[in-house]
Amino acid sequence: MGYAKNPDCELVAIASRTAEHAKLVSERFNIPNVYVGIDNWKNLIDKEELDIVSICTPNYLHAPIALKAIENNCNILCEKPIAISREELSQIEENLKNKNLIFFTSFQKRYNPVFKRLKDIIENNVLGKIISVRYYFSHYGPYKSWKALSEEKWFFDSKKAGGGVLLDLGVHCIDILRYLLGEYDKVNGINFNTSCINMEDEDNCNVIFRLKNDALGFITASWCNEPHETVDIFGTKGYIKLDLTNKNFVSYGPRKLKKNDYLQNLIECKPSGDIAQYVLTNHFIECVKKKTQENPNFEDGKRAVEFVLDAYSLKE
Ligand SMILES: NC(=O)c1ccc[n+]([C@@H]2O[C@H](COP(=O)([O-])OP(=O)(O)OC[C@H]3O[C@@H](n4cnc5c(N)ncnc54)[C@H](OP(=O)(O)O)[C@@H]3O)[C@@H](O)[C@H]2O)c1
Repeated sequence: MGYAKNPDCELVAIASRTAEHAKLVSERFNIPNVYVGIDNWKNLIDKEELDIVSICTPNYLHAPIALKAIENNCNILCEKPIAISREELSQIEENLKNKNLIFFTSFQKRYNPVFKRLKDIIENNVLGKIISVRYYFSHYGPYKSWKALSEEKWFFDSKKAGGGVLLDLGVHCIDILRYLLGEYDKVNGINFNTSCINMEDEDNCNVIFRLKNDALGFITASWCNEPHETVDIFGTKGYIKLDLTNKNFVSYGPRKLKKNDYLQNLIECKPSGDIAQYVLTNHFIECVKKKTQENPNFEDGKRAVEFVLDAYSLKE
């Protein structure tokens, strides 16, 4: 949708497994060339003259499509998670070297202005040294909460999804925490269960970790609860709690912080998670035009997947 609305962009081709979905999308967005079938995305990338490949297939196809796009010198906007194994991450990284291509990871939450204002607060030392952070993110899963298209329920299939709810939602949480506070240092523990959905991997999960700035981190990702998203930041001089599912979304302490201009900017901000995807797409297209790599880049996508794989390695 973001591409169709951007005047600098021409949609030239689409690949989809089923003719029905390909027809629906090609008619809606006036896309002239359609490639139907399980492997036909390869022909699309080989035959068409493309500046950009946008990857929004099931997770297990992200890396193979990205590698093909890199081979054909196409810039890439890749859905999260950008890969499902360390080998895939290394392959993409290796093949991107010396290519001068723009690679964006679809972490659209970064474009919600709330997080930029929260970052200003942290960077201006309003909360003092940050000592701990907590991100809670839940909904009822892909087929109830946002009605993912395919009937095969690939999100619940380990081979196609590469993991469970932590790989799906947890990557957003760690990306925002890295954006706000810098790199994570070490994942210390995970507990998880499969409670609500008939699937192999976790649908409910907690991870504890440490950031390089020494703050303690805690992420909950769950497909077993109503849509809920909260971010709590605790520092030596105060705390901020965001409830992104609530109209009055900021609470803070101590009360004297009320006079702080950065905090006022946050309180007055209108969360705009809904349009963040368009803003991301436009920013990506701008970067492709200018040939400048900005964030969220490959490294951001890679670190988020590594975080999840580090946590999974502690499952046994
Ligand atoms: N950034 C975010 O917040 C966000 C939000 C939602 C989803 N996502 C990501 O987006 C990706 C897709 O999720 P979704 O919810 O859109 O899933 P979905 O509804 O199941 O859609 C998957 C799409 O991939 C197509 N596809 C499957 N196999 C294909 C193949 N071999 N060749 C070409 N096309 C193929 C499907 O086409 P057919 O139906 O024709 O098979 C369908 O259009 C996932 O990686 C997910 O994590 C990210």
